[in-house]
Amino acid sequence: MEKQISKLLERARKGIESASSLKELDEVRVRYLGKKGEVTALLKGLGALSPEERPAAGQAVNRGRKEIEDLLAGRKVVIQGLEAEQRLKSQVVDVSLPGVVYDRGSRHPVTRVMGEILDIFRGMGFSVHQGPEVEKDYYNFEALNFPKDHPARDMQDTFFVEEEVVLRTHTSPVQVRAMEKQDPPLRIVSPGRVYRHDYDVTHSPMFHQVEGFMVDEGVAFSDLKGVLVEFVHQFFGHEVPVRFRPSFFPFTEPSAEVDMGCVMCRGKGCRVCSGTGWLEILGSGMIHPEVFRHVGYDSEKYTGFAFGMGVERIAMLHYGIDDIRLLFENDVRFLKQF
Ligand code: DAH
Repeated sequence: MEKQISKLLERARKGIESASSLKELDEVRVRYLGKKGEVTALLKGLGALSPEERPAAGQAVNRGRKEIEDLLAGRKVVIQGLEAEQRLKSQVVDVSLPGVVYDRGSRHPVTRVMGEILDIFRGMGFSVHQGPEVEKDYYNFEALNFPKDHPARDMQDTFFVEEEVVLRTHTSPVQVRAMEKQDPPLRIVSPGRVYRHDYDVTHSPMFHQVEGFMVDEGVAFSDLKGVLVEFVHQFFGHEVPVRFRPSFFPFTEPSAEVDMGCVMCRGKGCRVCSGTGWLEILGSGMIHPEVFRHVGYDSEKYTGFAFGMGVERIAMLHYGIDDIRLLFENDVRFLKQF
C-alpha cells in the first residue's frame, strides 16, 4: 500500500507542477481527489483490507491526500502570480505614445451671425419672441395685408402644406402673433427659419430671417432710422454709410429698403454690388394701419416700425462667401474656416 501511494504521489506531483493554468490544475485535482479520483478509489478500497491492516493503510492514504492538497494549494498561488504578471504585461500603457486628437466643433457661421444680430438688438431693449414655421395663410399673408392675388402667394414661391397652411415665407407673421398677445409698448426681434421655392447661388429653399418691430405712441420713421443705422454700424463698423430707399411692402407704409456701402469694394463698385457701391441688406417701414386693424390696435393712437433681414445674406457679406449653398452643404473643410 505504501508503495502504491508513493507512486501515486509521484505522478500527482508531476501533474501538478506541469499544470500551467488554474483550469489545468483543477483537472489534476479532479483526477486524484474528485469523486471518481484515484485517492478516493484507494479510500473506498480500504474496506476490503483486514482490520489489522486497515488503520495504517488509512493513515497512509490520508497523508497522501493531505500532501496532494498542499501541493495543489502551493501551485495555485504560483499560477495566480503568473497569470497576474501576464495580465499586467498585456495591459501595459505606453505613456510616451502621442494622444488621440479630437476635432473640436464650433458654431455654424449662420448661428454665429444670428447670435450677434440678436445681441445688438437686445442691447437696444428688444426682446426675443419666436413663432411657428408651419403657419396659417392668415398670419403669413392675410393679416399682413397681402391681397388674395398678390404674387408672393403664388405656388412658385410658397410651399403649401394644406390649402390654408404654408411653410412661412418670412418671419413677419410673428408681428401679428405677438401683437395679438400683447398690448403696446413692444420692442421685439424674432429669429427663425423661413421657406421659399427658390434655389441658386443667392437663394436657398430654407433660410433664416430676423424680424424686428417696435410699437408705441409716437414711434416715428426717425426711430426706425436710428435703430437700423445703429445696427449696421455695430455689426459692420461705424464708418459704413447707410441709406434708405423708397420701396413697397403690403404690411408697411411708407416702406424703405436699407442699403449699406459695399463691404467688398468700400463703395467703389465691384461685382458683388453690381458696380453700384451699395448693398441692399434689409426691408423696413412703418407698420400699415391694416395690420393694426387685424390685431385690434388703435392706429390713431399707436404707430410702429418693422424690419426684416436675411441672416445668410448678412453672413455672406460679413465673411465674404459668394455662394449661399456652401452654408448648407456642411463640408467640414469650409466650416473649419470660421
Ligand atoms: N418680410 C419681408 C421679406 O421677407 C421683409 C420685411 C420687409 C420685413 C419690410 C418687414 C418689413 O418687417 O417692414 O421680404
